[in-house]
Amino acid sequence: MDYQFDSCSCLTLAKRYGTPLYVISERMVRDRLSQLHAAVHKRTPKGFALYAAKALLTVEMCHIVADEGVGLDVVSGGELYTAYRAGFPMKHVYFHGNNKSKEELELAVQYGVGRIVVDNTDELELLCAITDSNAAPVDILFRITPGVDSHTHEYISTGQIDSKFGIPLVSDSLERAVTRAISSAHVNPVGFHFHVGSQLFTNESHRKATAILFDVIQRIRDHNGFVPDELDLGGGYGVWYTNDDAPQSLEYFVDALWADVDRYSKKLSIATPRIIIEPGRWVVAEAGVTLYTVGSVKEIPGVRTYVAVDGGMTDNPRPALYNANYSALIADRPDDPAKTLVTVAGKCCESGDILIHDIHLQNPKPGDTMVVLSTGAYNFSMASNYNRLPRPALVMTNNGRHRLSVRRETYEDLVAREVVDAQRVGDLRC
Ligand code: LLP
Repeated sequence: MDYQFDSCSCLTLAKRYGTPLYVISERMVRDRLSQLHAAVHKRTPKGFALYAAKALLTVEMCHIVADEGVGLDVVSGGELYTAYRAGFPMKHVYFHGNNKSKEELELAVQYGVGRIVVDNTDELELLCAITDSNAAPVDILFRITPGVDSHTHEYISTGQIDSKFGIPLVSDSLERAVTRAISSAHVNPVGFHFHVGSQLFTNESHRKATAILFDVIQRIRDHNGFVPDELDLGGGYGVWYTNDDAPQSLEYFVDALWADVDRYSKKLSIATPRIIIEPGRWVVAEAGVTLYTVGSVKEIPGVRTYVAVDGGMTDNPRPALYNANYSALIADRPDDPAKTLVTVAGKCCESGDILIHDIHLQNPKPGDTMVVLSTGAYNFSMASNYNRLPRPALVMTNNGRHRLSVRRETYEDLVAREVVDAQRVGDLRC
């Protein structure tokens, strides 16, 4: 039998919708979201879970996330607008980002988002000015830079001291920022946030950052009496891409964080703040696969065999950007022994456009459908039109059923935003 994903034949999907094709299992996404929801609601204090939209966002994803009782972490006007267009309950939207523009902040205030996560003191001033001018109240968290080095790729590590994200703790900027917010008429400080990094397999960095955060809470309380009602401890839980990855359970992260927050709060004699978590990758990565059609199989004797597929770094830039590893199989004969050592190449004009180095596959041949696994996170959302490749369609499956969720880009889409002199068309020399 050919390879089935969420009880759907991958050969049927490839034939019906074309390739490259993103396939996301709604069933698996809902399952992860409901686990998240349950994890934060069954604990004391009752927490709240957000889904980090940057991993994969569409209007339909917003509907699914809202249905499962999970909020949304957005980082740009575009993500915010998508949530708004979807009718997402704005009070459950947290607006992150290290350089929000005035227009983006105004939009967030106008939509009435639940929290704005303030990254720096300039942003705080801008927000005070905006809220003062239209007398709109807004609840904020301060993002701190805990100075914790998480052991992941440096491009996806965010908590270390030398970071563009958050308010550094090495000066009194945070004390001053909190005091400024307390004195402002409409900006209401609610708590703090950190995010230490992504694709993490231990809770060490989260726990170190939590300990540092509580030192900060004590420092601030002694400085101006502020005590947080809410702590947003970020996301970052690792997932499976290959058998080298050993993901931990959600409970492993959540148990430790809840226990630490409770213990540290008791030590400071403060009420335990509400805890927010906001994973992205953990919700969608393993719920997605990408289907490709094999084009050429080029054997360079004594060197290697390149299997070229009809997508590449345009639909999945992660191998080129982060040396990310993936697993794959040939959908036509998944049960054959995977004995042929190959390198999977994309179709872009870049030697670095390699999706998978050195993988054993089931004797791939031109015309086969290749399935790359665990592509649900940071693939669709990071896709580009390099080499003017149209971005793939996205299909949602649900236990044997499938439907188009985002249509494939057309060549016409590629030129649609260009402002051209109509007179010149048809009048070109050479
Ligand atoms: N919260 C904040 C403030 C974040 O910056 C991020 C990710 C998350 C939550 C969600 O992290 P997750 O649970 O998905 O690990 N493009 C990279 C990942 C960049 C992550 C940036 N921030 C990749 O493809 O690996």
